[in-house]
Amino acid sequence: MSGADNADDESGAESDGNGDDRVPVLLVRGDREYLVEPGEEMGTDLGVLDVPEDVQPGDTLETHLGDEFHVRRLRGPDLFHHFERTGAPMVPRDIGLVIGETGIARGDRVLDAGTGTGVLAASMARAGASVVTYERDAEFADVARENMALGGVGDAVDVRTGDVLEELDGLEPSSFDVLTLDTGDAPDVVEHAPELLVDGGFVAVYSPFVESTREVAETAREVGLANVRTRETIQREMQFDDRGSRPSTAPVGHTGYLTIARNE
Ligand SMILES: C[S@@+](CC[C@H](N)C(=O)[O-])C[C@H]1O[C@@H](n2cnc3c(N)ncnc32)[C@H](O)[C@@H]1O
Repeated sequence: MSGADNADDESGAESDGNGDDRVPVLLVRGDREYLVEPGEEMGTDLGVLDVPEDVQPGDTLETHLGDEFHVRRLRGPDLFHHFERTGAPMVPRDIGLVIGETGIARGDRVLDAGTGTGVLAASMARAGASVVTYERDAEFADVARENMALGGVGDAVDVRTGDVLEELDGLEPSSFDVLTLDTGDAPDVVEHAPELLVDGGFVAVYSPFVESTREVAETAREVGLANVRTRETIQREMQFDDRGSRPSTAPVGHTGYLTIARNE
């Protein structure tokens, strides 16, 4: 079970994806939200709730003390709120940019590193891709595998324990449509992108720091990738009140830099 405060809603595909028919669902009551598997027993301060094996979105379930929870289908942004966290997960808007800029879709083969919490890997799988993702920290990799099962994408995401740089030699040439990187050593991996990617495949590198980002962009050009471009991912929240409307004055905005390039 995983609990969190209420998350925003968003559309997204849903399937079991764990090799069985049990699809994890969200149990919601006010600000409380729990991600649970069918058949699980959920203990809260409101009592114990047995989740039926055949639970469906739209159902209402009661704890043994009579408090009700509504059953909701899991959607993309819920992964960010409910996955157990290890490496800093990518925020929903940046995942949107990666998927939008690379066109990730059903049938794509994606190579991803590092897995971290696995929010990006799971989101790409939910968009229909098969993902091979490397995580060099064995404990993080174990947590990521559990997160994939919880996200219903255990079959579509192959979480491999290991340093992606050391594993590159064992990967088939031209066997990936997209390469996604969220690691400090991304420039060293980008060097190999032309061998790894199919013709027309994309690289997407996410980095919070400009130094590594510049190195990524320079490496991408040196190895002959095309359309290399880097953008800061920044967003301003709007504030609407009685005095008027304006961007929120709360400090925000920057989460990272996203470099996109294409193998041509
Ligand atoms: C920022 S997190 C990735 C978060 C992930 N994109 C997500 O959405 O949850 C970076 C992860 O990369 C792993 N890592 C760093 N360098 C690596 C490498 N060369 N090979 C495999 N994993 C690596 C780290 O251990 C860390 O868990």
